[in-house]
Amino acid sequence: MTAEPRPIQIAPSVLPADFARLGEEVAALEKAGVDRIQWDVMDGNFVPNLTFGPDVIAACRPHVDLPFEAHLMVERPDELAPRYVEAGCERLIVHAEACTHLHRTLGGIAELGARASVALNPATPVSAVAHVLDLVDMVLIMTVNPGFGGQRYIATMEPKIAELRALVLAQGADVDIEVDGGIGPDTVAGAARAGANVLVAGSSLYRDPDGLEHAVTELRGLAEATR
Ligand code: DX5
Repeated sequence: MTAEPRPIQIAPSVLPADFARLGEEVAALEKAGVDRIQWDVMDGNFVPNLTFGPDVIAACRPHVDLPFEAHLMVERPDELAPRYVEAGCERLIVHAEACTHLHRTLGGIAELGARASVALNPATPVSAVAHVLDLVDMVLIMTVNPGFGGQRYIATMEPKIAELRALVLAQGADVDIEVDGGIGPDTVAGAARAGANVLVAGSSLYRDPDGLEHAVTELRGLAEATR
């Protein structure tokens, strides 16, 4: 990874979308100019919420050409990984906290032909991924505690984002830094300035009175203005 800033990517969460119209909702996000779609997969155990099974994602797959990534907030990612790749997710994001053998889990995702990424909950130190940066193309720094959309951004994660960026640069790793939780017009600059280049947003996109396209364009512009 060079010290050059990495391209800003907008990866909306469909958590706030209308679950009765998900095919249309992902098509609307594509039209709004997002770069990929993030599916917040929750198993009711790792986090106290339950969301998308692989069949729901597979049903939406034909509606857009965008890459899908599955944020696996689940206790047994190794078991579920093949199902989400088959459903059409090109990237799987596993939580370091859910993996007894993280190095092996990430290698297993690559063997499935998918891109492996790892997520860290707010209290988990960056050091948890120091020895697997060669196995991932992205690290997700959670800026809320996982489980629900619409939560307040945890600004104390910004030094953690900066610490991760320094580690990635020191290792010369080709790794994007993603942030997820409370990302919107008032918080995106802090996260981008700290080193994040992939932005997951849900509530802030759907609550924009000027619509999704305006929200996506504004978010991207605010992040790029920090460069
Ligand atoms: C938490 C979820 C949320 C969601 C986006 O488990 O991962 O962070 O993606 O939420 P908001 O509404 O804060 O953008």
